[in-house]
Amino acid sequence: MYFELTDEQKIIRQAARDFAQTELKPGVIERDELQKFPAEQIKKLGELGFLGMMVSPQYGGAGLDAISYVLVMEELSKIDASTSVVVSVNNSLVCYGLEKYGCEEQKQKYLVPLASGQQIGAFCLSEPEAGSDATSQRTTAIDMGDHYLLNGTKNWITNGSTASTYIVMAQTDAEKKHHGINAFIVEKGMPGFTVGAKENKMGVRGSDTHSLMFTDVKVPKENRIGEDGFGFKFAMSLLEGGRIGIASQALGIASGAYELSVQYAKERKTFGKSLADHQAIQFKLADMATEIEAARLMCLKAAWLKDRGKPYAQASSMAKLYASEVAMRTTTEAVQIHGGYGYVKEYHVERLMRDAKITQIYEGTSEIQRIVISRGVLK
Ligand code: CAA
Repeated sequence: MYFELTDEQKIIRQAARDFAQTELKPGVIERDELQKFPAEQIKKLGELGFLGMMVSPQYGGAGLDAISYVLVMEELSKIDASTSVVVSVNNSLVCYGLEKYGCEEQKQKYLVPLASGQQIGAFCLSEPEAGSDATSQRTTAIDMGDHYLLNGTKNWITNGSTASTYIVMAQTDAEKKHHGINAFIVEKGMPGFTVGAKENKMGVRGSDTHSLMFTDVKVPKENRIGEDGFGFKFAMSLLEGGRIGIASQALGIASGAYELSVQYAKERKTFGKSLADHQAIQFKLADMATEIEAARLMCLKAAWLKDRGKPYAQASSMAKLYASEVAMRTTTEAVQIHGGYGYVKEYHVERLMRDAKITQIYEGTSEIQRIVISRGVLK
């Protein structure tokens, strides 16, 4: 065991911490309130290499490890989870998928602009009737010889309107069930592809979440990723890494709320002494610190396994399950510690509490993580 970060990992963490303070914190309340996409911030993150962190420099990425990704996700999420979800989806669900499973032409055409931050990508698996039950894909892609004809609707798509490149899962042969699902690269602007209304969400309100409609969209044959029928395994394999990203986001939301609570407890006085001198508050902070530390170690362990090419599906599901529940508990307690101030927007913790909730839902609900974990335990 070796718990020390490398010098490079520490520098990257510091860079993300500085970016969050100087570029994300100003305006974060307003963006949440107005549901404003952090366009400038994402552009700068792209220029700094944070949108293609783990992609090889050969394809425009930063060539970093998954440990660094966890560190960056935690730091950005302490301040602005609406921005960090864009970073997470682009890195884990789009760039990683194209680099690992795309062919050379797809990498040159789509991965390079996505990894270098010139474009944003979206991952389109969920449907109105296929959320947790992801094998029940109703979107169809009929093989027409030189192209596929794509029809259907996708729901709750992160980066729905801001993305340029969409990875879309669709059923090409219903009889084969999940073995008939394929993944396709769809470009914004392809005739028949329309972006639906923006969702008005409880949290991560700065990120743009949309439904997408496909009506007779002609997708070139060369835009299918992998062998025929590989789409479901492709999506599941990407979600293993995506769950490290969301676990780290949950960790960051929790540690952001915790840091604000420590600071507030030292400053605020009640009954003639600071909040931090009350044992009721000390015990809350002790519990928060302990759970956050455990969540952090679980995120880092999952990333460490991924970096070494070892199986990490169980570890990433465990990290996501635990970190998202810690995020919910910690942010709720953070609001409690802040009292009336915690319930108003200026103190940030109410936003973190709203943001925390989605980490128990997207990229697989806590119940789905328990399915993945228990199957591993019982196999
Ligand atoms: N890697 C590769 N293949 C995998 C896999 C993995 N991690 N997990 C399962 N598979 C394969 C299985 O081996 C099986 O293949 P075979 O039939 O050839 O053996 C096939 O996939 C089907 O697997 P299951 O029988 O386990 O399928 P299931 O119907 O029981 O469902 C599930 C499994 C884990 C519940 C899955 O449906 C699931 O993960 N659901 C949640 C979906 C999800 O996370 N959605 C998130 C949307 S993206 C998002 O949220 C992004 C965002 O905006 C932030």
